Amino acid sequence: LDVVVLAGGLSHERDVSLRSGRRVAEALRGAGVDVSVHDVDARLIPTLRELRPTLVWPLLHGATGEDGSVRDVLDMLGQRYVGAGPRASRVAWSKPVAKTVVGAAGVHSPRFVTLPQSLFRELGATAVLETVLEGLGLPLAVKPSRGGSALGVTIVRSAEELPRAMVNCFAYGDTALIEHAVEGTEVAVSVVDTGDGPRALPAVEVVTDGPYDYDARYFPGRTEYFTPARLTTDVADRVAQAAVAVHTSLGLRHLSRSDLIIDRDGVPQFIDVNTAPGMTETSLFPQAAVADGYDLGKLYRSIVEAALE
Ligand code: DAL
Repeated sequence: LDVVVLAGGLSHERDVSLRSGRRVAEALRGAGVDVSVHDVDARLIPTLRELRPTLVWPLLHGATGEDGSVRDVLDMLGQRYVGAGPRASRVAWSKPVAKTVVGAAGVHSPRFVTLPQSLFRELGATAVLETVLEGLGLPLAVKPSRGGSALGVTIVRSAEELPRAMVNCFAYGDTALIEHAVEGTEVAVSVVDTGDGPRALPAVEVVTDGPYDYDARYFPGRTEYFTPARLTTDVADRVAQAAVAVHTSLGLRHLSRSDLIIDRDGVPQFIDVNTAPGMTETSLFPQAAVADGYDLGKLYRSIVEAALE
């Protein structure tokens, strides 16, 4: 059993991916798996042809990794790998498309509009502002319709903040998702399937001293985590069911992590899903697994074995 972990790549989340790759590789080695980490570049295909690993674990976050493109290449090579296939990855990667699909499966998510940069330019900030504020109401979450690690995301609490939020968003993608920012408890719910069906790990509650942005995610100290989240059994069950419904309705495999906000009525509102969730020392998937009593090496080995079945 030899595993190649693909990390790095060219996305905005390159550094996070390298950290995730190292952590997973270390844990797998500890569980007796022969593993190497490869920073993805143009030599990907010749490298995989030469190494012919039993399995690839694509730990690429963001574009190329979670948008399905590297998974297309792996399929083309007949290479087995951990996680969702290219089609499911593409659907999950687009926040508006994922919201629509999970909505059809009964999972709530905040009301939203999408806005291509070209239309924003054509209409002008003032017209957009009026329409969006009228339709969605403040506060708003402005974010790239595809993206991760909260890059390009702004919570807008007053109308004057919207133009700058749009500029920040368009720095990371050419279509904006503008949604009503639900106030409530922020949780991340990881799902694991090692062959016996998808199962939710304990929810991780995220409490920050400001927005849960890139720094709050990856620099220790700014964020407090409560695992399991401080929820009633009823609400904890609801978030677990929502995360499993997201995983299943999008056709994901082996692992995922849904980010949700529990609104003031106790309803989990789907924000987005990560098909290659972060695995760094401050990431939420490993925290949830450890809280559930897993040894990470053994869990990752079970995921590898499930991907080989
Ligand atoms: N997109 C990053 C890696 C995460 O949310 O875990």
